[in-house]
This record gives sequence, structure tokens and C-alpha cells, in this order.
Amino acid sequence: MRILVINGPNLNMLGIREPEIYGSQTYEDLVSFVKDVCREQNIEVEFFQSNHEGAIVDAIQAAYGKFDGIVINPAAYTHTSIAILDALKTVNIPAVEVHLSDIYKRENFRHISYVAPACIKTFYGFGFEGYRLAVLSIKEYLEKGA
Ligand code: DQA
Repeated sequence: MRILVINGPNLNMLGIREPEIYGSQTYEDLVSFVKDVCREQNIEVEFFQSNHEGAIVDAIQAAYGKFDGIVINPAAYTHTSIAILDALKTVNIPAVEVHLSDIYKRENFRHISYVAPACIKTFYGFGFEGYRLAVLSIKEYLEKGA
């Protein structure tokens, strides 16, 4: 089983970026957290982070035929990107949306997710733990079709 973890704009600045919202751990800490989860679960994992919408679309398209699942935190593009929604629908790879923060307790403009209709689940407000939950739910979905 192969999973691609995609992180959108400004998530490379974790640790520096608004630590009161996103915590003090870095993007590298996030990558090693998810690697550990995947190692325990016997899942192959790759990571992609970009600040550019088109690059994220390219990464989703390139995942076609290569990955069994996608974990995606589209960051700010969550609330704007029909292109990322369409890319997820295009490849039709089971995808789970993750947000570190509870987007529903923040500004109104964060309450709308354009990508959610292309995802089997969304986890928000659990910090890094949300990525673990996303990996586990993709695994369960692929194994049981749940
Ligand atoms: C985020 C929430 C988004 O609203 C925000 O633009 C981000 C990060 C999160 O992980 O909580 O960049 O996706």
C-alpha cells in the first residue's frame, strides 16, 4: 500500500508560523511523525509540499497509477481551489483531508472546503494526530472498502 501525503502553502513554515494555532513543531517533525505511523502500519509513504496550486494539481495527477491513497492538507487552497477538487476527482484515488486546526472554530471563510466532496473523510483540529487518523482511515478503506 502506497500513500502520498500532500501539504499545501505555508505548511513548510510550521514551527515559525502562528505557533499559537499550529504549534511549535516543524514540517520536518510532521514528516517524521507520519513516516513513523506508516512504518508501524507497513505502508509506503511519500511527501509533497508546495506553495503553488498548479504544482499540487500536478502532484495529484502524477499520483495516478502510483499511489493507493492520498492524505491532503491543501491549507489555504482548501477554501478556494476548484482545481484541486477537480484533480482529486480526476485521479479518483481515495483521499482524506486533514487540517491541523479546527477550521470550524476560526474565521467564516475557513468553514468552506472545496476539496471535501472529493474526500472520503476530513479530520480537523487534532494537530499531527489528524494525519495518523487519515492514514489509518485510508488503510481501513482500502482493506475493507469501508
Ligand atoms: C489549515 C487551515 C487553513 O485554513 C489554513 O489556511 C492553513 C492550514 C490547517 O491545517 O489547519 O494553511 O489547513
